[in-house]
Amino acid sequence: MKKILVVTDKPFAASAVSGIRKITEEAGYQLGLLEKYTSKEELLTGVADADAIIIRSDIVDKDVIAAAKNLKIVVRAGAGYDNIDLAACTEKSIVAMNTPGQNSNAVAELALGMMVLQARNQYDGSSGTELRHKKLGIHAYGNVGRYVAEIAKGFGMEVYAYDLFVDAAKMEAEGVKPVGSVEELYKTCQYVSLHIPANEKTKKSINFELLSMMPKGATLVNTARKEVIDEAGLLTMFTERPDFRYLSDIEPAIKAELADKFAGKFFFTPKKMGAQTSEANNNAGIAAAKQIVGFFEKGDKTFQVN
Ligand code: 3PG
Repeated sequence: MKKILVVTDKPFAASAVSGIRKITEEAGYQLGLLEKYTSKEELLTGVADADAIIIRSDIVDKDVIAAAKNLKIVVRAGAGYDNIDLAACTEKSIVAMNTPGQNSNAVAELALGMMVLQARNQYDGSSGTELRHKKLGIHAYGNVGRYVAEIAKGFGMEVYAYDLFVDAAKMEAEGVKPVGSVEELYKTCQYVSLHIPANEKTKKSINFELLSMMPKGATLVNTARKEVIDEAGLLTMFTERPDFRYLSDIEPAIKAELADKFAGKFFFTPKKMGAQTSEANNNAGIAAAKQIVGFFEKGDKTFQVN
């Protein structure tokens, strides 16, 4: 009997686990859970007999691949797969997949939620500002970016986007103004919401040079990855621009330094929780389980990323 293992340091909602269990058991597979594991050893031992694993931001590196002797497929229940060593998977003919779009609305709601929180000075009782008529730049118009645009338009924001891979006509049809360069996006928009993946091209690409182009009242929203930020540049931006605000679903390494000097000008979730809703967990977890069954039963490799 094939064993599917759910490996989640940050567990799914119980309803998502029930959904995953139903799909895998109805297909005749055994379901295992490795939640909130406390050491790499526990992870390596846990994956030893798994034919398939479902992960979130859990790290699947060379050691995990080597320890998982039966592994044929790893599905990242989510969008970003920078936590998987794709080359190591490919070397062992292991298929890696993600579940694009399944948790996007949850991430988008968090991005807008943090913007409202900060616009109201984190509800400290003082007069804040409104989002209506402000310019929002969406840096990468993918699944999350599109939801952010939709919700932001509801707030009455003027929405711009930059994405090399999306047709300007498609953005315009969705009420979004396309811009021709990253620089133009940052020069135009008081709010910028990041939706780029972390890869060799994007790491540390959000630097002081780019941020300093933003107009007065500049607010950067990061529900993407911490690796895309040049933290030295971020610190310079806080120092040089008293109007700058940074809202992030991922705490930067320089959090303590920011807390010392710039309290009230940033907000970080204590644990990455953009996709932490029962709806997103259900969508992504169940999609992952279905993709595994489809792969084993029909050889379906849709959403393969390696
Ligand atoms: C993703 O890439 O899908 C999001 O960053 C969510 O990550 P999580 O599953 O660890 O919450």
